[in-house]
Amino acid sequence: MTRVMVLNGPNLGRLGLREPDVYGTATLDDLAETCRETGRKLGLAVEVRQTDDEAEMIGWVHEAIDARTPVVLNPAAFTHYSYALRDALAMRTAPLIEVHLSNPAAREEFRHTSVVAGVANGTVAGFGLLSYQLALQAIAELCAAAGGAAAGGAAAGGRAPR
Ligand code: DQA
Repeated sequence: MTRVMVLNGPNLGRLGLREPDVYGTATLDDLAETCRETGRKLGLAVEVRQTDDEAEMIGWVHEAIDARTPVVLNPAAFTHYSYALRDALAMRTAPLIEVHLSNPAAREEFRHTSVVAGVANGTVAGFGLLSYQLALQAIAELCAAAGGAAAGGAAAGGRAPR
């Protein structure tokens, strides 16, 4: 079963309490259960983590990169300014989908920039927990496509498709 890391940045541990009009009433535990359940349906072993700490997040990205583990990432506020996180993500060789619960493009100006988007396969934003479910579906499709390609050679030591 393909392992997927679902990584969440600062203040997402406060979901349920945090600005429910923007982020909804589901808690991080609800989000984690939704992701694991979606993963089960898609044949993905999903592991959900959250940190408020940039160094810890970068450590997890390094861990994912070393194991070639696909990542669904909600970088939260790091999205808008963390060049260190972007540089870590740029080393990846497995799929990466950026997700947001809200739609940053429809919010304050500072949220319109994502320094992460340019190194991701794609971004899903604005659908609440569904953003994560759609991102996991995209990961499953990308991995299946890579598996198909792998039959033609990538599995024999080639660079994993991004
Ligand atoms: C967020 C959007 C970010 O702008 C914000 O800083 C967050 C959450 C989202 O999921 O909508 O913390 O990533």
